[in-house]
Amino acid sequence: MSKKSSNFVAVLEEKQHIGQLFDRIASTYDGLNHGLSLNIDRRWRRKTVSLMAPAKHVLDVAIGTADLTIEMLRQGKVEQVTGIDLSDQMMAIGQGKVERMKDLANEQVQFVHANAQAMPFEDASFDGVTCAFGCRNFSNLDEGLREMYRVLKPGGQVTILEFSYPTRRYIRVLYDFYFTHVLPTIGRIVSRDKTAYTYLNKSVKSFCWGEAFAQHLHDAGFKEESFETLTFGIATIYTAIK
Ligand SMILES: C[S@@+](CC[C@H](N)C(=O)[O-])C[C@H]1O[C@@H](n2cnc3c(N)ncnc32)[C@H](O)[C@@H]1O
Repeated sequence: MSKKSSNFVAVLEEKQHIGQLFDRIASTYDGLNHGLSLNIDRRWRRKTVSLMAPAKHVLDVAIGTADLTIEMLRQGKVEQVTGIDLSDQMMAIGQGKVERMKDLANEQVQFVHANAQAMPFEDASFDGVTCAFGCRNFSNLDEGLREMYRVLKPGGQVTILEFSYPTRRYIRVLYDFYFTHVLPTIGRIVSRDKTAYTYLNKSVKSFCWGEAFAQHLHDAGFKEESFETLTFGIATIYTAIK
C-alpha cells in the first residue's frame, strides 16, 4: 500500500472513534488551538461569523468547546444556538464558557450529543447552519453535508470554516514543516496524547478544499456556493444557500 493510501486508511480509522479522540484532548484543546495558531484561529472565527447572514436559530455542527457559537453571540448574529457534537468532554468545556458569559443571560445555547451524519432534528428546523473545523472529521463528508441541507430552512445559509492546503509552494514548505514536526510535538507534550495531533496533520492532507469542497456542497443540494481563503490558504470559509 502506498504511503498516501495507508495515511488515508489510518485517518478513516481515527474517524470511527472521533468522539473519544476529542474527549481525550478536550482539557487542553482551547489552549493548544490558540497557542499553536498564535491566536489566528480567533481571527478566522470572527471573520467566519462576519460572513454569516443574521439568523434566529442556528445549528452549530461539531460545536466542540463553543468558540464559534460564542463569537456568533458576541457579534449579535443569532438569538439561539443548538450545538451538536460527539464529544461530551468538549461540550462540557463549551457549556462552562457559555455560562460564564454574564452578558448573554438572555441568549440560549443548547448542547446535544449527536452525530452530524444522522441528526435527531426534523427537516427545515434551523434558520442557519454553521460548522468550524468539523467537516474534516466526518467519516462520510457527503452524509454530513446532506444532513446540514435537510435540517436547514429553505433560503437559509450554511457557513463552514475548515483547514485547507496552501497553494503557494514556499508557503507549503513552511506549512509542511510546521504541521509535520512542530505541531505534533507540542501537541503531544501538552495534551499527553500520542495520536491526536498527528491525526490533525494527516486529516488536513487527506481532505478536500476550495472548488472540490464547494462541489460537495453543490452535490448535497446547496446553491450559490462560494469560498474565501484565509492566511495564505491555511483555512477557508465556505458559504452556500438552501
Ligand atoms: C476540531 S474540533 C472543532 C470544535 C469547534 N467547532 C471549534 O471551532 O473549535 C472538531 C469537533 O468535531 C466533533 N465531531 C467530529 N465528527 C463529528 C460528527 N460526526 N458529529 C458530531 N461532531 C463531530 C469532534 O468531537 C470535535 O469536538
